[in-house]
Amino acid sequence: MADNTHAWMDELIAEMEERRKKIEQGGGPKRIEKQHAAGKLTARERIQKLLDPDSFVEIGPFVEHLETGLMEGIEAPGEGVVTGYGTINGRKVFVFSQDFTVLGGSLGKMHGRKIAQLMDLAAKVGAPVIGLNDSAGARIQEGVDSLSGYGEVFYRNAIYSGVIPQISAILGPCAGGAVYSPAMTDFILMSRGTSYMFITGPEVIKSVTREEVTFEELGGADVHAQKSGVAHLEADGDEAVLELIRELLSYLPQNNREKPPVLETQDPADRTTPELVDLVHPDPRRPYNMHQVIRTLVDDGRFLEIQPGWARNIIIGFARLGGMPVGIVANNPRFMAGALDINAADKAARFIRTCDAFNVPLLTLVDVTGFLPGVLQEHQGIIRHGAKMLYAYAEATVPKITLITRKAYGGAYLAMNSKDMGADVVLAWPTAAVAVMGAEGAANIIYRKEIQNAPNPEEALRRKIEEYKRAFDNPYVAAARGYVDDVINPELTRLYLIRHLRMLWDKQEERPWKKHGNIPL
Ligand code: HXC
Repeated sequence: MADNTHAWMDELIAEMEERRKKIEQGGGPKRIEKQHAAGKLTARERIQKLLDPDSFVEIGPFVEHLETGLMEGIEAPGEGVVTGYGTINGRKVFVFSQDFTVLGGSLGKMHGRKIAQLMDLAAKVGAPVIGLNDSAGARIQEGVDSLSGYGEVFYRNAIYSGVIPQISAILGPCAGGAVYSPAMTDFILMSRGTSYMFITGPEVIKSVTREEVTFEELGGADVHAQKSGVAHLEADGDEAVLELIRELLSYLPQNNREKPPVLETQDPADRTTPELVDLVHPDPRRPYNMHQVIRTLVDDGRFLEIQPGWARNIIIGFARLGGMPVGIVANNPRFMAGALDINAADKAARFIRTCDAFNVPLLTLVDVTGFLPGVLQEHQGIIRHGAKMLYAYAEATVPKITLITRKAYGGAYLAMNSKDMGADVVLAWPTAAVAVMGAEGAANIIYRKEIQNAPNPEEALRRKIEEYKRAFDNPYVAAARGYVDDVINPELTRLYLIRHLRMLWDKQEERPWKKHGNIPL
């Protein structure tokens, strides 16, 4: 009898293994070959590369579609998506990986349900969700059921936004609904040459607008990293993207109730930075390399820049100071003289909110002449967009440190996290100039008549500019009124920043109750 039971159980286990093996083969060897030939890894290979070795635990391999619509008799192993959890550098993460070899990774009702259930679990446990997207969008054969599947995912993208980090890798052609879920997550990473994102593809566009465009030109990684600002990071190939995800997560906490991980560093907190003394040119029109300033200040010169190719007049990204993660927002004088335009404001505001949601302190480096003047900017709504930055800084309750390196003028001075906008500590280098506008413009406005009537108007203008500079074009007027907390030697900047960051690390700031704010969009 015992032997019989054993044989019976063996049979059941063999059947289970057989089923599992079939599921693990996804769309079969031919389609896997096609996937590899396209320079892409399979859904399962990606998970193995992303996670720590042997840490992946699968959930729901046996889920099947409901044979709705035109799906009767169609096989979809694993429902076209592999879901489960594992670890990255020992920290728990949840991951779903769409299988393009199964019906083009298209999303049906149960495919969506699998992702939604994974997200629910991740939120309950308080760990990030990473989506490896490679999907042709809504599964056409399932009709409205596939739209419902998307609804389940979109809904959770919004509900868990700011609760657990959500990261999307785009590793294939993501069309239609397949782009809107990633668009609601915190970060989008794309593989160059093998991934695309678009709402409607080249064929549809051609039939509607007669425009002819390739996949790459329409929604390739470069387009989204440089033109649209949809992608936060891009890299060559699946493996490089997966490696970037591991790095990105190292700056983030597991959820919004935790602080980001502090790492030991060999880079001394009291390291002086004499390089910075000569870096900033006294002529305010001469640009300098703000990236170099950042790399000089942070631990081991490591800076993970986010959206490096888009709105290059502002720099955002993650680094560490004394082991503590910081989100850096810095003007870039090399582009548009660091002026703020619509895209720069959108880029910064979004990043500020991401950092605030996940308790990452903000370091703002200021060298800004103002908002970019121009009819196009005004007509496209610089007022609405610039307001996002003001709003985001004011709303953020994480530690906020501002360092003014050179110019801090006008509305942009406020938009770059001034004291009155809620900065906890504002530092300035002796090269800083805090004023309503540059000396030349100011002198021309307030002394126009006097200059016009002077026997030598040129000489009068020069004198008035000097006068204005003495009055405002320095950090001391702002420091005298407490808008700047200290004027520091650039050589000691790292030391000061780390001390202030340590002081602020356990900062608590309460705000009046509200349902949610109404950030201008
Ligand atoms: C079901 C699909 C599918 C889909 C492709 N397939 N798209 N199955 N639903 N949406 C299947 C194909 O029949 C094929 O099956 C396999 O997936 C691979 O597709 P190919 O076309 O051979 O691959 P490729 O040449 O690489 O082209 C990939 C692609 C193209 C660019 C994504 O397939 C495509 O344009 N698909 C349609 C995209 C689309 O319009 N989706 C719906 C968007 S509407 P076999 O058996 O041959 O391997 C939408 C609404 C949601 O998403 C809106 C929510 C807001």
